[in-house]
Amino acid sequence: MKPGMSLIKHYLQFKDLRTEEYAYLLARTAVIKQRFKNYEKYTPLVDRTLAMIFEKASTRTRVSFEAGMYQMGGSVVNLTTGDSQLGRAEPIEDSAKVISRMVDLVMIRTYEQTKLEAFAANSRVPVINGLTNEYHPCQILADVFTYIEHRGSIQGKVVAWVGDGNNMANTWLQAADILGFTLHVSTPSGYELDPKVAGVSNTNCVKVFKNPLDACRGAHLVTTDVWTSMGYEAENEARKTAFADWCVDREMMAVAQPDALFMHCLPAHRGEEVAADVIDGPQSVVWDEAENRMHVQKALMEYLLIGRIG
Ligand code: CP
Ligand code: NVA
Repeated sequence: MKPGMSLIKHYLQFKDLRTEEYAYLLARTAVIKQRFKNYEKYTPLVDRTLAMIFEKASTRTRVSFEAGMYQMGGSVVNLTTGDSQLGRAEPIEDSAKVISRMVDLVMIRTYEQTKLEAFAANSRVPVINGLTNEYHPCQILADVFTYIEHRGSIQGKVVAWVGDGNNMANTWLQAADILGFTLHVSTPSGYELDPKVAGVSNTNCVKVFKNPLDACRGAHLVTTDVWTSMGYEAENEARKTAFADWCVDREMMAVAQPDALFMHCLPAHRGEEVAADVIDGPQSVVWDEAENRMHVQKALMEYLLIGRIG
């Protein structure tokens, strides 16, 4: 092992796990979800503590990690920039050294990926990315699980990404590379997905379209996200103009596969990136997608802390 390399398994981006680890995690999620649905108690993380650090707002990530950890017998400490020394310029490296001496696992939602990496490099315990400007791996894990639940394997399928070349788009591209599906991408000019930023060298798994309708043609899953991600609020007005034609509507869903699904990580803005009759329509699985955040993250936390079961 090179000096400075760590044996701790972190989940900082989707490509931190291999294809066969995803096969295990997705199957394990189904078991954990079924136990929850059957009201079966399953508490493998008794006496374990998760620290959650939020430098950006959250509803789903906070509730899914917190509820998931309690269900598995553990406990949670929640920190935000405003109520911790992180907001008073304590270095991220020092924070990592301190926090990771007291807890077993850390989940962070922050701005730059480099900040998350700096925390992980100084942490004694596994670190999970709860969203950065660049990536949102837990969300894509939930989205892939949701696709499989509804339609079976995602391998060989086409996922259409309509909108911003953002953290979600980057992570979809990593997932396409690792799980063997094709990503159709359509973004307004100036907001393109950059495979280098996404950290993917294999460009065979991505096809770029100027017109969002063409990206949706034949897709098995159509998905989008807000026009303005957290941290980019100053660009809101310019983005509203640039993204006006990137609203997933019935016309786009009509050229996708007849049984295509619609997904959105939420929160959504009806009438902006998605029409109300699509997100609230029969092809939308957004509520399953949100619920599945909790189930996949329970499987992920179990995997990072205990390893494979069975
Ligand atoms: N999708 C998602 O991460 O939602 P929150 O911002 O509410 O956590
Ligand atoms: N791309 C969005 C996702 C929110 C869950 C953002 O970063 O704000």
